[in-house]
Amino acid sequence: MAPNFVPKRLTNSLLLSVLVISLYLAEAANLKETQLSLYFQDISAHGNPNATVIPVAGIAGKAWTFTQFGTVYVTDDYITETADPNSPEVGRGQGMYVTAGLDGLNSHVTLSIVFTNKEYSGSTLQIQGVSKQFEPVREVAVVAGTGKFRFARGYATFETHFLDIPTQYSVIRCNVTVQHY
Ligand SMILES: *[C@@H]1O[C@H](CO)[C@@H](O)[C@H](O)[C@H]1NC(C)=O
Ligand SMILES: *[C@@H]1O[C@H](CO)[C@@H](O)[C@H](O)[C@H]1NC(C)=O
Repeated sequence: MAPNFVPKRLTNSLLLSVLVISLYLAEAANLKETQLSLYFQDISAHGNPNATVIPVAGIAGKAWTFTQFGTVYVTDDYITETADPNSPEVGRGQGMYVTAGLDGLNSHVTLSIVFTNKEYSGSTLQIQGVSKQFEPVREVAVVAGTGKFRFARGYATFETHFLDIPTQYSVIRCNVTVQHY
């Protein structure tokens, strides 16, 4: 009896692996890919009552700036369909930036894109990771989503499309590529 027992268990576990792999492939085949180009309307000027990026904490005795390690910003940017601030609304970019590089170059981003427009209203995308904040194109991972973006995974690029230095008003283009169900 014993000699037959081992091969049978092996066969069973092989069948199980085949089953798991084919389920995985079936699921992978159902993934949709969505690409979006969004525009963040961003005001970071100190003291501007309309600022949408505000430092809320930092190292005591140091200036709270983008280049100072330990500075924590909270943000709520209006997001539009095109660079024009009067173009149709897409949603809000709500989250935090923390200057996480001791040299002040890298920022840690934790950001939700909260969709309020027709097609994706009520859905969110979760963006998380390091942003090399002085590079022309900053790439950050999209780690999750809700609603129409359940199980989303992918990446987002951020590039400054327009900047008015005196008012620190900028328009940031965010291209998102995600796979989701
Ligand atoms: C803030 O926004 C209001 C309403 O859009 C505008 O009238 C005002 O000029 C803005 N203030 C600054 C300092 O940009
Ligand atoms: C973002 O998408 C636009 C088209 O919508 C394209 O022109 C631009 O090159 C893209 N940016 C990056 C960094 O891929």
